[in-house]
Amino acid sequence: MIKGVVLAGGLGSRLRPLTKVTNKHLLPVYDRPMIYYPLETLRRAGIRDVMLVTGGNSAGDFLRLLGNGAEVGLDSLSYAYQEGERGIADALRLCKHFADGERIVVILGDNILEDDIAPHLREFEAQASGARILLKAVEDPQRFGVPIFDDDRIVAIEEKPSVPKSRYAVVGVYMFDARVFDFIAELAPSARGELEIADVHNRYIAQGDLHYSLLEEGWTDAGTFESLFRAGELAFRVRQNRQQR
Ligand code: DAU
Repeated sequence: MIKGVVLAGGLGSRLRPLTKVTNKHLLPVYDRPMIYYPLETLRRAGIRDVMLVTGGNSAGDFLRLLGNGAEVGLDSLSYAYQEGERGIADALRLCKHFADGERIVVILGDNILEDDIAPHLREFEAQASGARILLKAVEDPQRFGVPIFDDDRIVAIEEKPSVPKSRYAVVGVYMFDARVFDFIAELAPSARGELEIADVHNRYIAQGDLHYSLLEEGWTDAGTFESLFRAGELAFRVRQNRQQR
């Protein structure tokens, strides 16, 4: 089975003072710490071998909370520590040994999904090579990575464009073949000083090997006060729906 990566580094600056003494991914989302949700998304899709990249405040608390991963249904949970806040691609770079030349699924530690990603994972596994991203139509695409389309083909991803060229956000779930680590090694920091995941996606586009699927159900990030609040609402609604089924 494909291995999973959860990226929970960064300093959570947009959530200060909530993140002044603790890590953003340990904050409550409805009835559980935020990090449980991305881990659950991977576990539901059958992924049992996970590496968690953390950084910033309270890194040791992840070990206290999650231990060896057994309590959250994993066979194995490994940890890596990212210095500073140098970007999503920089955090992923630390997982090269863990990936060991195999394909991986990456999820951002602040992404809360209602969808089961298993069908998208199967489509990715059916690809001969390349990457697969997930898209969701949103009202505020300028907050996210945004695809530019030519018909139904993605020709570029723009990170937080002031004038978005589509109404889709790139969701924080990425599926990559082993070339991802070669592409990251070639990146230079962006104007905001980060190694951008959008630049990695654009390298796959240049190779003609970036594929995508659309999410159908609820999705939010939780990196701002408003989205953290919405994440709690989504988690509450999803829990109620599942209990009623
Ligand atoms: O949520 C989806 C969006 O996430 C995508 O649409 C964007 O393309 C992508 O860049 C990202 O945008 P954000 O501005 O929301 O990213 P943020 O800096 O909040 O980081 C999201 C998560 O990534 C964070 O919860 C932990 C991880 N991360 C981030 C950085 C900057 C790291 O592990 N290390 C880092 O240095």
